[in-house]
Amino acid sequence: MGFEQAWLSYRMIREDSEWRGIGRIYADEDDFIIGNAVRELQKAWSEMTGAALMLCPDSQKTHQAGSIIFRQDEGCGPEGYHVFEEDGNVVIAASTDCGWLYGAFELIHQMQMENPLSGMDIRKEPVMPLRMLNHWDNMDGSIERGYSGNSFFFENDEILIDERTVTYARLLASVGINGAVINNVNVKDAATWLITDRYFDKLRRLSEIFAGYGIKLFLSLNYAAPVELGQLDSADPLSEEVREWWKRRMQLVFGQIPNLGGFLIKADSEGRPGPFTYGRTHADGANMLAEAVEPYGGLIIWRCFVYNCKQDWRDYVTDRARSGYDNFIELDGAFRDNVILQIKNGPMDFQVREPVHPLFGGLKASNQILEVQIAQEYTGQQRHVCYLIPMFKEVLAFRTYAAKTDDTVMDIVSGKTFNQTKCGMAAVANTGNDENWTGHDLAAANLYGFGRLAFNPSATAEELATEWIVRTFGKDQEVREVLLFILMNSWKAYEMYNAPLGIGWMVNPAYHYGPSVDGYEYDRWGTYHRADHAGIGVDRSHHGTGYAGLYEEPNASMYDSPESCPDELLLFFHHMPYVHKLHSGKTVIQHVYDTHFEGVELVDEMVKRFEGLEGKLPDKAFGRMLERFQHQKEHAREWRDQINTYFYRKSGIADEKGRKIF
Ligand code: GCU
Repeated sequence: MGFEQAWLSYRMIREDSEWRGIGRIYADEDDFIIGNAVRELQKAWSEMTGAALMLCPDSQKTHQAGSIIFRQDEGCGPEGYHVFEEDGNVVIAASTDCGWLYGAFELIHQMQMENPLSGMDIRKEPVMPLRMLNHWDNMDGSIERGYSGNSFFFENDEILIDERTVTYARLLASVGINGAVINNVNVKDAATWLITDRYFDKLRRLSEIFAGYGIKLFLSLNYAAPVELGQLDSADPLSEEVREWWKRRMQLVFGQIPNLGGFLIKADSEGRPGPFTYGRTHADGANMLAEAVEPYGGLIIWRCFVYNCKQDWRDYVTDRARSGYDNFIELDGAFRDNVILQIKNGPMDFQVREPVHPLFGGLKASNQILEVQIAQEYTGQQRHVCYLIPMFKEVLAFRTYAAKTDDTVMDIVSGKTFNQTKCGMAAVANTGNDENWTGHDLAAANLYGFGRLAFNPSATAEELATEWIVRTFGKDQEVREVLLFILMNSWKAYEMYNAPLGIGWMVNPAYHYGPSVDGYEYDRWGTYHRADHAGIGVDRSHHGTGYAGLYEEPNASMYDSPESCPDELLLFFHHMPYVHKLHSGKTVIQHVYDTHFEGVELVDEMVKRFEGLEGKLPDKAFGRMLERFQHQKEHAREWRDQINTYFYRKSGIADEKGRKIF
């Protein structure tokens, strides 16, 4: 089995399957995207049936039965499709090339699942306009927070284009992803030169491959490029000279790379340059760039992950959780129409549990993208299994109260709440040049699930996991049940043996992996979690940093009071005594002990069930996963023991169940 094909690895379908009755495809291959759709179908057919799908010119108006036919249907939206069976033929109806391509992949999906062909009638339209991957790949080939090998886009400051580029584009299109930022948001060194003629030829070729699969190429941009490329001595967004520089540069860039979608920018955060140097705002910076890309239909995606990492965020006045909100809320409505604000799901930084970012609901006149991270930086670095779709579902379902109805995060980023079209969802990618793309084979479920979720957020995490399992490993019932059990319990298990009740940050600060309870420490104020002998947690209520008040009502009041704050976020919002009783009826300290013991038991159960799959999964994949599971098993114990011991020593309160705490 080819692991490099991920969920597009095909196996033979049943001998009596009605799909085998389809033997022809009518199409004109001239169109680039349709050509790719035809090739996808032909590959799928030959690998799933052993027979060729014969290509017939579309000018033949009479179609023989048992054919695939492309049909124009203006009723389908720009990327939508209608796939159905009609008199023994399969019709893929759409109004655009991209719709036909997605329709072709839908057909392949149905065939892989061996769903019935007769009576098939599927009409779909992507819910989020932008469905993007953000790669944090550096041009030397390393990947910031990458856990599956090196970059397949860059090596030694060069751009790589090979078979993998094409497979990558196929995989993305097959789950409906329509944009990819290929370089790290921290744009340094050679990456600053991506907007110069040094790289235009390769970028153009790359963008053309992407275009054939309905994907727009995006780049991360260095805000200080005019200075760092050595051409100006300022990057002041209000300077005429600087504005002119960007306009000329963008004319050049878009002239050379017509399929470029635009740029992603991290400015004035963690040491990156930005408009603050010149006493200007994020809106000044973003609007200057937006004006320059506007003639080419370009987008400026401006990140709201803005904080000063040199600042003392651990005191009680300046709360790091407030930073994104405080930096952007006053600017709501000040951005040009082709600027999109990209907001991380939570206010801190991709912890295993965080509240939803208060900018969702706070912002009412700005285009917004929800940024999630499938690179498992704080969630086990693709050595622990952690299926994140259930977390993303919770974020999307969160009611912001930004409007009377249609106010969930999903409503906002799908454009429903504020009637927007420049919005959607982006994921920090978890891919690298490992054979299986994602290091841990099960981490590919996050890549798959992300794309499918952004296309259709009402799909359940369970449905997406099931599809991914069947498409990747086949229809064996035991394989399906065991892997589903593992995936669906994995986030829960990871949270259980990690930092408790939403407090986060108990990891080694250097590499964000493994327990280090006091790792995020500060001399004067103690640690990020502020544990002492009597209690733990950060007071973000109106008595503390006031962060809870950044939400719309009734969320603000709900979070402000420990009585109404949900258990899983209690320590994020409140400093509580260890003996405080949770809604669950347990004390905080007993919850810590119980979840840490139970988290390890859950991992043991996952591993035991996984071991039973030996011989049912391809040996290589089984071996790779087994090795990781064995590590996870030990590592979960390390988490349990370090956290439990720490709190036992701090609080002096024994486990009421008398278990041994190491
Ligand atoms: C995290 C991560 C950084 C990254 C940053 C970002 O802090 O650790 O490596 O650059 O997020 O999102 O910009």
